[in-house]
Amino acid sequence: MFEVKVGFLGFGNVGTGAYRIIRDNGSSITKSEGINLKVEKILVRNSKKKREVEIDQSLITDNIDDIINNPDISIVAEFMGGVEPAKQYILSCLKNKKTVVTANKELIARHWPELQKAAEENGVGLYYEASVAGGIPVIKVIGESLQANNIKEIMGIINGTTNYIFTKMSEEGRDFGDVLKEAQELGYAEPDPTSDIEGFDAMYKLSIMASMAFHSRVSIDNIYREGITKISVDDIVYGRELGYTIKLLGIAKRTNDKVEVRVHPTFIPLDHPLASIRDSFNAVFIKGDAVGNIMLYGRGAGDLPTGSAIVSDIITAWKNRDRHTGINFYNDGDGKPNYSFNNDWETEFFIRLTVKDKPGVLAKIAGLFGKYDVSIASVIQKDRLKGVAPLIFVTHPAKEQSVMKAIADIECESDVIKVENVIRVER
Ligand code: NAP
Ligand code: HSE
Repeated sequence: MFEVKVGFLGFGNVGTGAYRIIRDNGSSITKSEGINLKVEKILVRNSKKKREVEIDQSLITDNIDDIINNPDISIVAEFMGGVEPAKQYILSCLKNKKTVVTANKELIARHWPELQKAAEENGVGLYYEASVAGGIPVIKVIGESLQANNIKEIMGIINGTTNYIFTKMSEEGRDFGDVLKEAQELGYAEPDPTSDIEGFDAMYKLSIMASMAFHSRVSIDNIYREGITKISVDDIVYGRELGYTIKLLGIAKRTNDKVEVRVHPTFIPLDHPLASIRDSFNAVFIKGDAVGNIMLYGRGAGDLPTGSAIVSDIITAWKNRDRHTGINFYNDGDGKPNYSFNNDWETEFFIRLTVKDKPGVLAKIAGLFGKYDVSIASVIQKDRLKGVAPLIFVTHPAKEQSVMKAIADIECESDVIKVENVIRVER
């Protein structure tokens, strides 16, 4: 039986979850895997802080050298978050021949090639299952189970905080800020929740999954990103009347030599496989040319689910200790991508306007859509009040850039009081 000494960088939600799993499930892991996992040292910012779990205080340090220079520690698990100092700490660990396991999607998405290169040069591994979709083993599935496929599409609910917010707004009509606060208290949100609600967190995760699926680095600079802060309860209610529910989706599609990658609030039909994913749950829908459609579902955030992915990576890293394998980007990480990126994708649109309630307005707006070849599938006028009327258009599949040009013209139309929202629809 081997004893594997692990160093932790961070001891917040994820770190505490991983610690609890090692403490509570350690003996069954020993039986099934033949290793005894031991947390040797834990780096924190504030060594005096009271911790969520009872812990031997001698394990806690605020000095990174206690981990980097500890020859007994062979694997370091990072869940501090942010780019610096996490990046420098991880690079130092790799240079000191320690394999690194991380939950830090921002760091992987931004600096993957440099970190992977450092791991390879030092003959150690870099593992990041916990960085995407919490406890769902999506990295292992894309990297180790679907290699025989050309992956055509990934569509996922990959941020637990925003899914929790949309669920509570839709089902209980609750206020955005209130629900966000609750998601923070439950440990789902990022240390800075702007990352969740503005779609950065989902963008990092989509970059990681798409890079693996398309064997070519999909940089965050190539991903269209839009957060959820502009979505109102009115949008959700009107969408539901049309048979839609709203989700923040990460979407990556490949057709021939073109790739489209985008994160935005999306209406999907109520019978769509992703429509029933509620609360902080995540789901990732993958389309491969051989396997067809598969969907992975589970807890995308939280201490124990994410801790589960961390501890799994620690065990995998130990098993691979003699032969770590890392991703090969065929475009060599920083080089030119193998594909061109398409920013003029085609989808349906839900467009909500407030207009002056007078004859001829509808015809004028329809004319502006027609000017850019945007075909209207349906128009709904809601209750008129004091000379203004809410109007909702749903388009047939239309090109993104054409719709945006039509919207720009509509905004300048004197009878249009406000373009309230433009929400893409996927089927
Ligand atoms: P968190 O609760 O805020 O914990 C961060 C931990 O890192 C704290 O223990 C903090 O120390 C420590 N830390 C931060 N900066 C440090 C520094 N400069 N030096 C030393 N220690 C430092 O965060 P979390 O929710 O666990 O998330 C951590 C990482 O996991 C992030 O990258 C996040 O994106 C990722 N992640 C989170 C979840 C989730 O459900 N929360 C799921 C998947 C991935 P103190 O305790 O002393 O302040
Ligand atoms: N803040 C992230 C979320 C944590 O809400 O999904 C999991 O990565």
